[in-house]
Amino acid sequence: MAKLIVTGGKTLCGEVRLQTSKNATLALLAAGVLSEDKVTFLEVPDISDVNHMLCILRSMGAKTRYNGSALTVDYTQITPMVFEESCGKVRASVFLLGPLVGRFRQAELLAPGGCNIGARPLDIHAHIFQKLGCTYLQGERIRVQGEKLVGNKIRLRMPSVGATVNAVCAAVKAEGETVIENVAREPEICDLVAFLRKMGAKIQGEGTPQMIIQGVKKLHGTTYLPQRDRIEGGTFLAAMAITGGEGVILGVKPSYFSPVLEIFLKTACKIQCEDDKIYIRGKKSLAKGVSIKTGPYPGFPTDMQSVMIPVLTKCSSQSTLTETLFENRFSCALELTKMGANISVQKNVAFIRPSCLYGATVTAKDLRAAAGLAVGALAAEGESEILEMEHLLRGYENFQGKLSALGAKLEMFY
Ligand code: UD1
Repeated sequence: MAKLIVTGGKTLCGEVRLQTSKNATLALLAAGVLSEDKVTFLEVPDISDVNHMLCILRSMGAKTRYNGSALTVDYTQITPMVFEESCGKVRASVFLLGPLVGRFRQAELLAPGGCNIGARPLDIHAHIFQKLGCTYLQGERIRVQGEKLVGNKIRLRMPSVGATVNAVCAAVKAEGETVIENVAREPEICDLVAFLRKMGAKIQGEGTPQMIIQGVKKLHGTTYLPQRDRIEGGTFLAAMAITGGEGVILGVKPSYFSPVLEIFLKTACKIQCEDDKIYIRGKKSLAKGVSIKTGPYPGFPTDMQSVMIPVLTKCSSQSTLTETLFENRFSCALELTKMGANISVQKNVAFIRPSCLYGATVTAKDLRAAAGLAVGALAAEGESEILEMEHLLRGYENFQGKLSALGAKLEMFY
């Protein structure tokens, strides 16, 4: 079991070069199935979710080879039946359904896992496959089958990221045109579309609520550099803000961070953006409290709320954070109370009051909660011990090294 020991109170300053995006990379690794060829992914992050996804792909017959951080996956000989237990460890295993159905007209896999942050139903995924002419059966295993895959008009009940990945990946190989309405507009979806286009797909409208896809007969291999991780970026901005530090995150598209930067500005942090970098200067005491509501992009990212909550304890009056996407996502807020945070949670709203944080032993219950607790511990007086940090290793590469380079005092024990 991994644990992180943090000695709080250091001011974090410096530059951080971000890893490539966990969520984009996982979607691309799945979408590569459509190539029936070799695909090289550049600067692949060294995180356990990627390793689990590669385990699943290898169990299907894919061959993987690293050259430094460049990863070549040979998707030539694979089967659409996935029996690997790793499916239960990552949410993104469900992203394989669309590419497998696109390529083989069938898919079978164990139900996906991922963070325990709510019910996470798959009804929208089912709806997509049914609209494209497939049968969808879900028990312990998910089975999708269709004689033919025929383009259609599909409206998503809500803009689910995973369902959009599956819809786009199935539709690129369907017969004729598919129009998908109310699609997710997350930057990771735009990255997926850029990748599929490089493989020969015909897609328009990414980043808007409607996508139009013309099915093609065949896609081909490619080499691709995924976008940088905006949630990792937000985590380092939070770490610098809460410790009254200053610094720069590099390799980013500032527009992807808009709702997060807006909150930092409201709390009186200084923010400056250039083409591919964001500068922040934090303060140990921030301005008056803010009100945040998570939502699908371009709303405030649910993945950032655990990381932002400790920062809000430094505001001079109460903040509220309303979680609209997942019903069980306040484990970080509740654990932070052990560090002295004055936080209460009622249903889907956390009330965060001005607090002095002190070192304590806390437990990470999911990936982003792990990052949020680390951010809190950096600003706490004394030493904190954060248990079950294997959750953090799912999504953050070299977390300890990057924070140490900014001046933090921390050590990970495995
Ligand atoms: C992805 C991200 C996750 C992020 C989330 C929202 C990956 C690997 N994971 O998860 O980090 O927190 O987007 O930005 O990329 N829903 C349904 N029925 C469905 C599908 C979704 O009701 O069939 C609901 C979910 O319960 C949730 C909301 O839709 O309330 C958004 O979920 P979704 O966008 O699908 O999240 P994931 O793709 O699972």
